[in-house]
Amino acid sequence: MFKSGSPVTGKDFIDRKKHLPLFKAYLDNNQHIMIKAPRRFGKTSLVKQIFDYEKKYEYVYIDIRLHHSLETLSNQIVNKAYEFVKIKNFINQAKNSLLNLLQSIKTLSIPDVAEVTIDMLSKERDPVELFIHSLDLVDTIASSRGINIKVIFDEFQDITKLHDQNILEVLRSIAQHHQNITYVFLGSLETIMTNIFENKSSPFFHFSSVIQLEGLDVDELFEYTLQQFDSKKIVYDKESLYKTICFLEGHPEYSAKVLQTLYINATLEKKKIDINSCLDAISFRVIENRAYLDEIISKLKSKKHHFEVIYNIANEKKSNIASATLYNTHVSLEDMGIIKKVEKGHYKIVDIFLKILLQQDDDTMVSLDGKLMIPMDKKT
Ligand SMILES: Nc1ncnc2c1ncn2[C@@H]1O[C@H](COP(=O)(O)OP(=O)(O)OP(=O)(O)O)[C@@H](O)[C@H]1O
Ligand SMILES: [Mg+2]
Repeated sequence: MFKSGSPVTGKDFIDRKKHLPLFKAYLDNNQHIMIKAPRRFGKTSLVKQIFDYEKKYEYVYIDIRLHHSLETLSNQIVNKAYEFVKIKNFINQAKNSLLNLLQSIKTLSIPDVAEVTIDMLSKERDPVELFIHSLDLVDTIASSRGINIKVIFDEFQDITKLHDQNILEVLRSIAQHHQNITYVFLGSLETIMTNIFENKSSPFFHFSSVIQLEGLDVDELFEYTLQQFDSKKIVYDKESLYKTICFLEGHPEYSAKVLQTLYINATLEKKKIDINSCLDAISFRVIENRAYLDEIISKLKSKKHHFEVIYNIANEKKSNIASATLYNTHVSLEDMGIIKKVEKGHYKIVDIFLKILLQQDDDTMVSLDGKLMIPMDKKT
C-alpha cells in the first residue's frame, strides 16, 4: 500500500481514471503521443501499468537515462526487435556465436534484413546509422508479423545528451515513414519537452498528440485511501485526511509517502489519524527529502535572482527586480521545471515540499527538530 521509490503497477497503482482512457484511445488508434509531466509525477508508472502489467500491446521500452551513447541505445532496440521473432541477444550472438545466429536467421521471414544488421555490427559505423537501422528494423518486423509495435522513449528530453540536436530531426524524418510503429515519448522538464513537441519550428511539431499528465485526481486518491484504511481497520478523521490529500495537490510520490507514514504510524501506535498526525507526517517526509530539496535550492542559489524569485513566490511576496530580468528568471525557472505558470504573471511552485521548505523561517531551517510550519489551512 502506498509504495514509493520506484514506479508502481498492479494493486499499488492508483487508477488514473481520467488519464488512462485518453491514453489508451490514442494507442488504439496508433497515434503518436508525448506525455509530459514534472519529475516524480508517475509517467513511468503509467506506461509500466499499461504495457508491462496489462500487457495489452506489443512494445519496446527504452529509458534513455540508462544509456551513455546512441550506440548502446540502438543495440537495445535491435535486441528487443529480434525478440519479436524469437531471437534472443542478437547483438551478443552476432559478436560471439555468429554461426548459430546465421543458422537461426535462415528461419526468419526477413533473413535479408538480419544480414544487414549483422553487416552493420561487424564494422565501425556512424552511430546515427545504427540508430536509424534499429527503428527501421522494428517497423519491418512489426510489418512482417502484422502487428503495431509501440516504441516508448522514457526521459526523452535526454536524447540530445547522447547526440547533438540533429538527432531530433533524424528521428522525426525516419519515424514519419514507420507505418507499423506508434511512438510514445515521456519526459520531464516541461518546457524543454514543449520546445521539442509544440514549438512550430521543432521537427516534432504536429507529429504527436501531447498529454499533460497532471497529479493524481484528489477525489480518486481520497476514495482509494479510505478503502485502504478501512480494509486495515484504521481509524481516521475524514476531514483531516481530505485536507491533507488536497494540500499535497495530488503529487503522486509525496502523497504516497505521506499516506504511507500515516498508515504505518496508525498501525504501530494504534491511534486515530487526526490533523496533528497528518501535519507530523508531512513534516517528517519533507525533512526526509531535505537532501534532495537542498540540492535544488543550492542550484537555484548558484543562478542569479533565481532563489530570490522562488522564495518570493513561496511566500507570496513581490520581487523587486527589473521586469525584464524578472521575466527571464521566470522563463529560466520554468525551463528547470521548478515553477509553472498559472495565469499571466502568476506562477506556482511545482514541488509542494520545496514550497513548504521555503516557507520555513530561518531558525526552523537549521534546527531540524522535525516540526515544520505547514500552512495547511491557508488556501494554496
Ligand atoms: N498511479 C499511481 N499510483 C500510486 N502511486 C503512484 C502512481 N504514480 C506515481 N506514484 C508514486 O509516485 C512515485 C514516482 O512515480 P514514477 O517513477 O512513475 O514517476 P516519474 O514521473 O516516472 O518519475 P521520474 O521523473 O523520476 O522519472 C512512485 O514511486 C509512486 O510512489
Ligand atoms: Mg520515470
